[in-house]
Amino acid sequence: MFPGPEVPKMVASLTVRPARAGDLDAAASLFAARHRHDRTRIPHLEPRLEEPAAARELIRPLFENPRAHGAVAESGGSVAGFLFGEEMLFAPSDMASLFIPPHSISMPIEGHAVAERQDATDVYRALYGFLASRWVANGFFIHRCAIPPGDDQVQEAWVSLGFGRYLTAATRPTSPVERQNVAAIEVQRASPEDIDVVAELAECLGRWHWQAPMFWPVLHATDAATREFNLGQLRSGDLPFFVGYQDGTPTGMQTFLRPGFTPPVVARDGDVYLFEGVVSDGARGGGVGSALLRHSMDWARNAGYESCTLHFAPGNPSGAPFWLGHGFVPVEHTMERRVDERVAWAR
Ligand SMILES: CC(C)(COP(=O)(O)OP(=O)(O)OC[C@H]1O[C@@H](n2cnc3c(N)ncnc32)[C@H](O)[C@@H]1OP(=O)(O)O)[C@@H](O)C(=O)NCCC(=O)NCCS
Repeated sequence: MFPGPEVPKMVASLTVRPARAGDLDAAASLFAARHRHDRTRIPHLEPRLEEPAAARELIRPLFENPRAHGAVAESGGSVAGFLFGEEMLFAPSDMASLFIPPHSISMPIEGHAVAERQDATDVYRALYGFLASRWVANGFFIHRCAIPPGDDQVQEAWVSLGFGRYLTAATRPTSPVERQNVAAIEVQRASPEDIDVVAELAECLGRWHWQAPMFWPVLHATDAATREFNLGQLRSGDLPFFVGYQDGTPTGMQTFLRPGFTPPVVARDGDVYLFEGVVSDGARGGGVGSALLRHSMDWARNAGYESCTLHFAPGNPSGAPFWLGHGFVPVEHTMERRVDERVAWAR
């Protein structure tokens, strides 16, 4: 909640300034403490990041990234919090533009923390306000911040700033898929010759996300890059793209990457990333997705992976309950805010 007039002293005592190289150790300590706290609630997080030295290595690239801007909040002579955001400047035809809005800001999960005993809303508001004034002045109106799930104070801070949940990353162990009633499908590992099958099932997933309540755009500008990416994966043969067939017709797909887009706070060494999971329109709800996941988890376990991570749209009425029902546990929420761009001229 927004602080009432009863807590003005803490707000008044906060000062914010740009982050400097010398702040890295303090930021790493704050992040390591937050991570220790996060690990008490969230499974699959990387134990090593409880150590400030490991946290330091994760955070350091933000301090060295010319597209990232950081700020530090101080209170009573000590660091109360830090925040970094990176300018995302992918070309419209780049595959990343499928997932990252053009000319946007990304505040990554390792890019912020608030000291214990500080009010998260006060500190994040001060830090974000400091950085966002520059971002908005430079035409960056879309801001994203990745946060750990289940921390009410951190979530409240970002919700109070106008952010809503846009994406969830979730992880499950590669233990067997228990469900009994799975469909009888033949699962094949796709080869480069199957690129049209892979592309069609990927498009099917795009058509689903285009609909309410997700409303994700289908960007044909990225089609060539996406096809090239998938073809590259199929040619390398490192990780499987599984396609499920019923009577010779492809009805579902689960594709794997490493490290893919597994958030860096997850224990990545034993993790495999499920990139695209889809069942074709007419075959949904008949156990194809469960059968494919059983096959995938059996493969992953036998290949030595301990966990599997994926992303879903929190509002996806199909994917969200499906993955959560199959034991995936949220490990990161990406929050998004779109600033009213009329502020650029309406003054
Ligand atoms: C999400 C998705 C991959 C799941 O695949 P699916 O084949 O529909 O899933 P399943 O049929 O295995 O399971 C879904 C539901 O169908 C039902 N079901 C499962 N096996 C069944 C069977 N043999 N007969 C009838 N119904 C069955 C179950 O009710 C299950 O719901 P439950 O989890 O509450 O028990 C698929 O629905 C899909 O492609 N959705 C649209 C795209 C999407 O959201 N992809 C995920 C992006 S993150």
